[in-house]
Amino acid sequence: MQEVERFRSRYAVSGDAALLAAELEALGTDYSANGYTTLTQADDIGDWLSLDEDDVLLDVGAGCGWPGLYLARRHGCAVISLDPVSEGMPTLKQRALADGCGKQAWPVIGVAEAIPLRPRSIDAIVHADVLC
Ligand SMILES: C[S@@+](CC[C@H](N)C(=O)[O-])C[C@H]1O[C@@H](n2cnc3c(N)ncnc32)[C@H](O)[C@@H]1O
Repeated sequence: MQEVERFRSRYAVSGDAALLAAELEALGTDYSANGYTTLTQADDIGDWLSLDEDDVLLDVGAGCGWPGLYLARRHGCAVISLDPVSEGMPTLKQRALADGCGKQAWPVIGVAEAIPLRPRSIDAIVHADVLC
């Protein structure tokens, strides 16, 4: 997929100081986000989903972990971060460890069309800026 190749090169520059500063100003966050979902919107999503520490959240098209990883930290739930592009996952894993939620974060390579999970193994789904 040509689109997926674009995401590979985008995630290869995650952590760049100028990009993080722009993200912080535009979205209010610094997760190396690759979309338009703001911190306020992510907070609203987490509240609407009523996430808590017993929940498993699936983040489809997670990229570098935004917003699922943030929601796991905020609500104490576990998050499965699904994406076909592996290049965002080192950033995601580093952020999870730095935030002290490494055991709650499970990066998985895969696509929304064939989610590699058993039925009833998740409690909620989020997908931010994913068209598929
Ligand atoms: C615009 S980015 C958004 C990433 C992240 N949610 C964020 O807001 O920073 C879209 C993501 O969807 C992923 N993606 C593309 N096709 C997908 C599919 N069929 N299933 C799951 N994820 C997909 C891409 O690899 C990319 O990481």
